[in-house]
Amino acid sequence: MKVVYLPSIIYFRGGRVRAMDYIVINGQKTLKGKVNISGAKNAAVAILPAALASDGVCVIDNLPQIEDVLGMIAAMRSMGVKCEFRDNHTLIVDAREINGQVLDERLTKKMRASYYFMGALLGRYKHAEVPLPGGCDLGLRPIDYHLKGFAALGATCIQEHGVVKLSAEKLTGANIYLDCPSVGATINIMMAAVFADGVTLIENAAKEPHVVDAASFLNKIGAKINGAGTSAIRITGVPSLRGGEYTVLPDPIEAGTYMIAAAITNGDVVVENIIPKHMDSVTAKLKEMGCTITEGGDWIHVCGNNHLRSCDIKTAFYPGFPTDLQPQMATLLCRAQGTSTITENVFEQRFRYIQEIKRLGAQIKVDGRMAVTKGACVFTGAEVTALDLRAGAALVIAGLCAKGETVIGGVSHLDRGYENFEEKFRSLGADIKRIKRDE
Ligand code: UD1
Repeated sequence: MKVVYLPSIIYFRGGRVRAMDYIVINGQKTLKGKVNISGAKNAAVAILPAALASDGVCVIDNLPQIEDVLGMIAAMRSMGVKCEFRDNHTLIVDAREINGQVLDERLTKKMRASYYFMGALLGRYKHAEVPLPGGCDLGLRPIDYHLKGFAALGATCIQEHGVVKLSAEKLTGANIYLDCPSVGATINIMMAAVFADGVTLIENAAKEPHVVDAASFLNKIGAKINGAGTSAIRITGVPSLRGGEYTVLPDPIEAGTYMIAAAITNGDVVVENIIPKHMDSVTAKLKEMGCTITEGGDWIHVCGNNHLRSCDIKTAFYPGFPTDLQPQMATLLCRAQGTSTITENVFEQRFRYIQEIKRLGAQIKVDGRMAVTKGACVFTGAEVTALDLRAGAALVIAGLCAKGETVIGGVSHLDRGYENFEEKFRSLGADIKRIKRDE
């Protein structure tokens, strides 16, 4: 089949138009081999601003080379923070002298994690001006818990022209209850509370591995945080943070994406450099579907099955099934025998990708927060667009098992969160390539 690649076009405010890269996949290749998992995006983008709050030099290792990380570094450099790569994955951050606590919208609008500059700058400098965050469009993504937390610590929060302006004479420890265990609010409040006088208790805190990783990094450089990984985090304020070295944890979402890709191609893949415990919810569901899974100290071996069984998934906060793997898992469930249900409990609009996987042949219906698959669909290649990061991963997974050629636009979303994904998939035997488009 000869595919004519239509230009994928983005309209910028100034009217500038840019054509973007495409991914082309020739599907139905069985994935086999080993894949090394990179550092976790969501931990890295929290640890970088935390390093900005340090009075010393921080060395951060196992940083993934992805657009969100590079975007955070660009934002830090714009404030005068010295950031130098020692090698591709190790960054030296020197924030001893910075030239302001004001961030430009052009540097923050693509990334959700830019909100972490609020907690880091407010904590260390008692002042921050940070535009409202960008990131994937998954419906309303308010930051009211973050702001309520900062206010409880004694900060004044004003929102003007899309910018959050935070200031305080001093911060004082407080008891803060989160209405739901928001990852972003937990880490952001924790970063500000590190510098508050006295003790802060965050109740109903998020327990995700990257919350623990951010707390471990902060403790390594002098913070006093107890209880990260439980629903009650206790922070005793300190006057300043020193420098230190830290290695970012492996990415559970990247690992889960490769596990699901192995399952959908009836593959035989060892996912390496991971913490298998972080994958429990995914492992359980893949086993329920009929995959054979074995695990060791830092790896999981996934063998697919030609007759995958249906199952139901419900996204939840950690240790529940992660919403960031919901699109990939739903794609796999489309291939299983029988009906499966997918309930999205974290984000109100995380089914927008379904219109695109339907173009590849998925038989799936959405009703509110639930999607229902009819099962055993045969994906066939088509031209589709990644509407957000994990939606893009779902399309790659569908393309890997589709008959013929799948052409995926909107690749910049994938580049935000997956390091070298074409090379990694190619090394497993996938026929996948990127077609570069000049700006
Ligand atoms: C983070 C992750 C994202 C993941 C999500 C859930 C980062 C950079 N992003 O996003 O990849 O999908 O956790 O695991 O780590 N909420 C409010 N008010 C708030 C904050 C959150 O109502 O102030 C709601 C949200 O709308 C959502 C839920 O709480 O329904 C969870 O959001 P949260 O955990 O904060 O997600 P993010 O930090 O946006």
